[in-house]
Amino acid sequence: MYNSDKVIVGIIIFILFFAMPFWLNFGKAKALPKPELPSDTKECVESREYMRAFHMKMLLDWRDKKVREGQVYYINSQGKFFKMSLQNTCMKCHKSMEKFCDRCHTTISAHPDCWRCHIAPEEVKKWQ
Ligand code: HEC
Ligand code: HEC
Ligand code: HEC
Repeated sequence: MYNSDKVIVGIIIFILFFAMPFWLNFGKAKALPKPELPSDTKECVESREYMRAFHMKMLLDWRDKKVREGQVYYINSQGKFFKMSLQNTCMKCHKSMEKFCDRCHTTISAHPDCWRCHIAPEEVKKWQ
């Protein structure tokens, strides 16, 4: 009925062709701008991997707990206390929105609108 060899070759070519963008990008991930990490401390609220994956959820949790339930502290996996605040906790260490948060967000086209109301210390200095 049909030539199965040709079909297989066709499928392979199809896969190679569509996988191309991924290969061309391979190794380039490193060339993306790196967020500037704080120089004066080594540890975040939770591990780096955890923060990468869950900081958005953590921030929204903090907001809800603080604003709706009136809780003040977050206790991390090591038993350390942190005040639940974007400005007074996160941005005390990550002082610049541009050099930290936006380095990642711009690359992936995420645009959280937190800064309409919350303040990032380094950017505020520029506006003053
Ligand atoms: C006490 C200082 C401090 C506080 C407070 C802090 N961070 Fe961090 N953050 C760090 C450090 C230091 C690292 C790098 C950790 C490492 O290399 O293990 C980091 C890493 C991260 C990363 C991963 C970055 C990467 O390139 O992998 C994200 C995302 C992050 N923080 C977001 C936040 C958010 C959101 C908050 C508030 C909820 C916060 N941080 C609070 C110091 C802090
Ligand atoms: C290591 C890279 C990285 C850093 C640094 C980082 N983010 Fe993110 N952020 C992400 C990724 C990835 C997402 C997920 C985007 C999505 O799901 O569309 C995200 C999403 C978010 C969201 C949810 C946005 C939405 O539209 O759903 C918020 C809020 C947020 N980040 C806040 C922050 C803040 C505040 C900082 C700086 C203190 C920060 N992030 C630093 C990578 C990062
Ligand atoms: C329309 C204005 C507005 C926007 C936009 C906004 N917030 Fe807030 N946020 C507030 C106000 C007002 C409070 C209450 C302030 C207080 O309790 O001191 C608050 C409180 C919080 C808190 C707890 C208190 C603190 O000091 O941080 C967190 C965490 C928070 N917001 C995170 C976020 C994040 C993350 C975003 C972006 C996804 C965001 N907010 C966007 C107005 C805003």
